[in-house]
Order: sequence, then structure tokens, then C-alpha cells
Amino acid sequence: MGELYVPVSIESIQADIFPDVALYIKSGGKYILYKSHGRNFSSQDAARLMENKVEFLFVSPADLEVITAYMENNAERVLKDDTLEAKTKGKIIYQTSINFVGDIFEHPQKVSDFSRSQRMVENLLQYLASDRDSFQSLESVMTHNYYTFVHSLQVTALSVLLHAEAYLLSHDEMLDVGIGTLLHDFGKVFVSPAILSKEGKLTPKELEEYRKHPEEGYQYLKKNTKLSDISLGVVRCHHERNNGNGYPQGLKGPEISRSAQVAAICDVYCTLTIDRSCRKALSSSIALLIMKQEMKGSFNERLLDTLEGIVCCDNPAQFL
Ligand SMILES: [Fe+2]
Repeated sequence: MGELYVPVSIESIQADIFPDVALYIKSGGKYILYKSHGRNFSSQDAARLMENKVEFLFVSPADLEVITAYMENNAERVLKDDTLEAKTKGKIIYQTSINFVGDIFEHPQKVSDFSRSQRMVENLLQYLASDRDSFQSLESVMTHNYYTFVHSLQVTALSVLLHAEAYLLSHDEMLDVGIGTLLHDFGKVFVSPAILSKEGKLTPKELEEYRKHPEEGYQYLKKNTKLSDISLGVVRCHHERNNGNGYPQGLKGPEISRSAQVAAICDVYCTLTIDRSCRKALSSSIALLIMKQEMKGSFNERLLDTLEGIVCCDNPAQFL
């Protein structure tokens, strides 16, 4: 995703409470300054942009903290507003984050998959918003570490596509899978932000704390929400590995639920292919090569092949 420019839906900008940050427009993959610090963003600006079919403006990494705080408050306001329907609440959270979902596709011309996963994630968020406990859990992830929230959306977008290709899932099961995946890293709210954003290797002690997140997330969500066993399984087992080398339980192959196997693959794939400041993103073919060779035995090979069919572009005929 390059540097973490944060997309802000124009509809969600409330001129009176919006912070004084520079705003950018994305054009041809570049960010162009639209409004500098100190200049107000007026309702006329919003109207003009919407007339020109611009839906999102972007905030630069320099203002990440300010905009994250605004979005936290906005999410809290939205969540507490009883006059808003669940559908609207989900849509507002979706609008603040959906541009990141596109980053999982190396080839944006693969429009059909992109819009399909966007729709699925939008439906999931609207559904999740109807359950206060689950929605608050997602909000906690968003406010604790924004990168984790963005990453969770990306893993979910890919996971629903991979499930749809690999299995015949009922609508209800797809919802359970999607919600479990949206919340798969919930346990990171118990990990210190310094560890989550540390660049470079974690010390053994830090690694031990980090590795508690699947079990702690599972225990908390089991106790405090009505998430299904399928969803909870994704949260607890997304770091298990096919060969038993994962954690927290060291489960092997079929002992790991298929949705947790899918989540594990999508989690690693998104981590390898999406840029973070400390490491350059890899192409989809290199990422898959690493997962198939260096990490051989870690993942279900049939699912890896299915993922390859979704994300690689060896066959141009599959693109629109
Ligand atoms: Fe995780």
C-alpha cells in the first residue's frame, strides 16, 4: 500500500469538527495536495468534489495520529448514535477503510474480484454493526492499532474470495468466516503498541507477549460476544500451521478448521505483499514462491494453488 495515506470519505468529513490536516487527492497512483494546513474544508469543497465523482480524500502519514484520533471519535459517535441504522453504521466504517481493500490486488484491472470482495466486506461490516459487542471489538482493534485494522480488512477481503473459490459455503457460514477473519487479530489489543509497531526483530520476551494474541483474543471474544464457533476458531487458530509448527496449540493439518487454514494463508500473503515502512512489498508471485518453498509444509497446498489462481496474472484472459 505504499506509505500509509489514510483515505477519508468526503461524506464523513464534518467541516466543524474535522481536524486541520492537509488533504490530498489520489490521481494515477500519486497523492496530489488538495488543501494545505490552515485552510478550511467547506461544504462547497465537498459538493464540488462529489460533482466530480471524487469520493475520497487522503491524509498523509505525517498526520496519521491526528486523523486516527478523529476517526476513533467519529466511530465512537457513530456507534453511540441510536438514530443511525446498523446498515449506516457499517457503511461509515466501510467508507473510512475500503480503499485499503483494493491493495490486495496486484492488478486492479481484475475488477470483478475487487468489486465482489468490496461488496462482501461492506455487507459484513453492516452485519457486524448490528451486534454491539462484536462491533465494539472491531472498533477496539481500529483504535488500538490502525494498521492491524487495515490488515484485518485486507485479509478478510481475500479470505472471502478464497472461500468462495475453494468451498461451497452457505450464506451464514460465509458471514461467520468473514466476521472471525475481521476480528482475527483482536487479541492484539492486549499487546503493547510499542511491540506492534516495532521495526526489526522482537526480543524473545516481546515475541512471547506477541504470540499470546490468538488465545487471548479467543478467550475474550468467547466470553464477551456471541460469536459462533466458526468465527472463534479463526481467531484462535490463524497462526496454526499445517505441519504443527504454529501456535498457540501446535495443531496439525485437519485438526485446524478450514476457515482458520484459509485465514492463515491470507494473513501471511497480505503481510508479504503489502508495503510497510520497514519492508518493501513483494510481488504476488514471489510471495507465493516463499509460501510454497521456504515455508513448505506450513499451508494446505490445494488452498495455496487456489489463492494463486485468484491473485496471479499468468493468464491474462481472466482479467476484464
Ligand atoms: Fe495474528
